[in-house]
Amino acid sequence: MQHLIDIMDMTVEEVDQLILKAEDIIANPAAYAEKCRGKKLATLFFEPSTRTRLSFEAAMYELGGHVLGFADANSSSATKGETVADTIRVVGCYADIIAMRHPKEGAPLVATQVANVPIINAGDGGHNHPTQTLTDLLTIHREKGTYEGLTIGFCGDLKFGRTVHSLLQAMCRYPNTKFVLIAPDELKIPGYLRDKLDKLNIPYTETPDLESAMPELDVLYMTRVQQERFFNEADYVRLKDTYILTPEKLSKAKSDMIILHPLPRVNEIPRAIDDDPRACYFKQVLNGKYARMALIMKLLGIS
Ligand code: NCD
Repeated sequence: MQHLIDIMDMTVEEVDQLILKAEDIIANPAAYAEKCRGKKLATLFFEPSTRTRLSFEAAMYELGGHVLGFADANSSSATKGETVADTIRVVGCYADIIAMRHPKEGAPLVATQVANVPIINAGDGGHNHPTQTLTDLLTIHREKGTYEGLTIGFCGDLKFGRTVHSLLQAMCRYPNTKFVLIAPDELKIPGYLRDKLDKLNIPYTETPDLESAMPELDVLYMTRVQQERFFNEADYVRLKDTYILTPEKLSKAKSDMIILHPLPRVNEIPRAIDDDPRACYFKQVLNGKYARMALIMKLLGIS
């Protein structure tokens, strides 16, 4: 049985095939309308979500399947002291596949140890978010036509931003990737990822300055400062407005750069940017549904 806890659980070939499958779903949606007939997806969200949970649910409906679950840990037996392991055993009696989000890093991995159905990590604390990465990869594939030779700027909260951690690792596997890591000192990428870049000899620079990094980027991946992961409010308040992508800063970018953001945004991308042809974050939302359709099929062994 295959789970998806970390994007590195999949080989690069598996990821590429999944993206091609998602492209085929986009081109021929009717061919997939019955693929999961009779199957049930459980979405267990112990942490808030709009896009991830609803895109999983929409994905399962579009495959002809059913959905059950909860969107709030307070309405689950977690409030009575039930462990994640027990919740997974119970839900495994009702569902064929489980997507779970949890504030604790590693909780979905624990789930796999007792699960009798595939588990999908829909975000674990400040750690990983592999299905957002599939979404991001599909968007890069559709917008840039390649994963090779791209200079990717990650901007904002690179310390707690789990989507950054997963996409960075996924992009390390494609030829000639370069990273520009744009963050204040307090929000730089975790040491284990810097070690990985060093070990793989991936070229990267770290800078606090978005404007000066802009001209070389093919992809700008903006993120919000992750308020819920800060230990003290004063640090959050000091850092929250560090990066705002103004039209003036964007004027320094390549004309075919793409702007991605996993959303939700707070103020780091003003509305004025939404009409710029480089703004791809709402297309990215739609792509998330197709990437998750392809993933659900893969983990259920449906071709
Ligand atoms: C992200 C997440 O939950 O990590 N959102 C999402 O799933 N699209 C990003 C965020 O919350 O900032």
